[in-house]
Amino acid sequence: MKTKQLIKKLPKAELHLHIEGSFEPELMFKIAKRNKVKIRFKSVAEVKKAYAFDNLQSFLDIYYEGAKVLLVENDFYDLTFAYLKKCHEDNVVHTEIFFDPQTHTDRGVPFKTVITGIKKALKDGKKKWGITSHIILCFLRHLSEEAAFKTLEQARPYKKDIIGVGLDSSEVGHPPSKFQKVFEQARNEGYLTVAHAGEEGPPAYIWEALDLLKIKRIDHGVRSIEDKKLIDRIIKEKMALTVCPLSNIKLRVFNTLKDHNLKKLLNQGVKVTINSDDPAYFGGYMNQNFEETAEALKLTNEEIVTIAVNSFEASFMSEAQKKKRIKQCLALLK
Ligand code: ADE
Ligand code: ZN
Repeated sequence: MKTKQLIKKLPKAELHLHIEGSFEPELMFKIAKRNKVKIRFKSVAEVKKAYAFDNLQSFLDIYYEGAKVLLVENDFYDLTFAYLKKCHEDNVVHTEIFFDPQTHTDRGVPFKTVITGIKKALKDGKKKWGITSHIILCFLRHLSEEAAFKTLEQARPYKKDIIGVGLDSSEVGHPPSKFQKVFEQARNEGYLTVAHAGEEGPPAYIWEALDLLKIKRIDHGVRSIEDKKLIDRIIKEKMALTVCPLSNIKLRVFNTLKDHNLKKLLNQGVKVTINSDDPAYFGGYMNQNFEETAEALKLTNEEIVTIAVNSFEASFMSEAQKKKRIKQCLALLK
């Protein structure tokens, strides 16, 4: 089967997606107008021109700015539903989305408004396209642990709707150890844990995320390759990496896709997955990430299927659901 056709037919799970990062400029303008919020760009083309980044921080500055037009429940509904439509088009059958409540609550938008809009869209996406999902609450690591505790408190009435907590935003200078206590409390309350580590930060941050935050998956984790002992542990523990190839190029983690270490990691036995991170900002949703990576790194059909299988194995779906999806993936190799 041709690569593109295989990718299209493969059922996939997306495990690293910031819902605020799926905010397309067209929708941003529509919502800004509806909410009578001024944005500093005159046109969609002008916005897209501004999406040229030097590093993670230069992206985050514009990402938080874009999120400011989201004010009411319907905004979060529209944002989430638009992403689910992309999932449907790309045969993403299961998604575990991140949201950044502090980006909104710090502007006076209630936690309830954010989570209710997202939840309603996920429910409708399940009804319309059969897409299953989970929600992961991310703490912003450039803020304090005290602020993260406050957010965890705000999440309490919605505990049943939130499967886990994560850690995102500016990595360097904000190690996982800064959030050890709040992650401990979250785990005690029954949340699963994940964390961005080793995107720009050193392997030491990945060790901390594993040892102190007791994460179930490593978000990005591409810098693990610099530490042989760490790689050995990741392989032994079958710890998945939620890799985001187009994001890594846009944020200059690698110069080009041909330089990306995804295939090296995969061939060493690391459970690698492919994800879109912030697709509205980085030039592509799931299949675009698969296609461009497959082409640049000359991934075989077996490797592409393995990556999709990994996405289900590393997901927080039920074991029965995982089994069903993995069988569908493997059938495409016959
Ligand atoms: N928030 C949104 N996208 C992110 C990324 N790639 N790294 C850290 N924080 C983020
Ligand atoms: Zn991310």
